[in-house]
Amino acid sequence: MSDIAASARTVLVTGAGGGIGRGICEVLAEEARASGRPLRLALHGSRISPALESLAAGLSGPLVEAWAFAADLTDTDAAAALVGAVTGWAGRLDCLISNAGQSRPGKLDSLSDAEWQQTLDLNLRATWVLARAARAALGESRGNIVAVASMSGLSPHPGYGAYSTAKAGLVMLCRQLAQEWAGQGIRVNAVCPGMIRTPLTESVYQDGETLRQREALVPLGRIGTPRDIANAVAFLAGENAGYITGVALRVDGGISDGMLNLIPGRPDKPAAAT
Ligand SMILES: NC(=O)c1ccc[n+]([C@@H]2O[C@H](COP(=O)([O-])OP(=O)(O)OC[C@H]3O[C@@H](n4cnc5c(N)ncnc54)[C@H](OP(=O)(O)O)[C@@H]3O)[C@@H](O)[C@H]2O)c1
Repeated sequence: MSDIAASARTVLVTGAGGGIGRGICEVLAEEARASGRPLRLALHGSRISPALESLAAGLSGPLVEAWAFAADLTDTDAAAALVGAVTGWAGRLDCLISNAGQSRPGKLDSLSDAEWQQTLDLNLRATWVLARAARAALGESRGNIVAVASMSGLSPHPGYGAYSTAKAGLVMLCRQLAQEWAGQGIRVNAVCPGMIRTPLTESVYQDGETLRQREALVPLGRIGTPRDIANAVAFLAGENAGYITGVALRVDGGISDGMLNLIPGRPDKPAAAT
């Protein structure tokens, strides 16, 4: 058994083995070691894989204990049981980071009911079920929730209608919970990533021309990294964000706000130069 104190801050990160989830876990572990505040990290995956177990082993060490948990988050009973397993393990919960998600493409007119439902269940309902199951423990710790939404939840995303709808719902769910649970001292926020290079999107960036075209669309001139998102999540999850609740923080290099950059004939960008 570990020598981490029972009072250690306990954080559940869903989708911990994915690109952004792994980044979040790494940043939280680094923060714990830098601050001297012990941390219990519950790393969730859809199943216990050797990669998830080796991530947990790699993160564990002085001041940090990490443990792997599995649940299919499209299954409400399994999602609720995950929170029970984590609170049973740690005896408390200070933060739920609801990051697991999947951007299945599909035009709305050709999407089956099952595909629509699966996308909504994972990207929206799972956060509600996890939050509901975690409410008592988070109320006790005066903890918080950070959900990883998407810029696709802020603007329509042609070809990703169910995903976009789910992430828009997720942003509103966080704002709603923030209002309803503020009285218990529970903060709830969302982060909306832009284009981030992770296993979810890697196939797109393998094509150099697509990469260059995408980079050109981002005002800050590059595709984001898991760490860009992890730093924002860690901030919202931490004490320095103690007076922030109900926000949807865009972490996107400026792309979601850049629509007017695309208008031809801008006075600062003559047509020949576009
Ligand atoms: N990458 C981007 O450009 C981008 C942009 C905007 C928003 N996002 C959002 O950021 C979050 C993380 O994305 P990512 O890019 O890091 O993707 P990723 O590398 O594919 O990771 C996704 C994670 O979700 C988990 N997951 C998938 N289906 C699940 C299920 N049914 N039950 C439980 N867990 C499940 C996976 O767990 P296993 O590996 O164990 O199966 C995986 O760890 C997602 O919510 C995504 O929508 C990403």
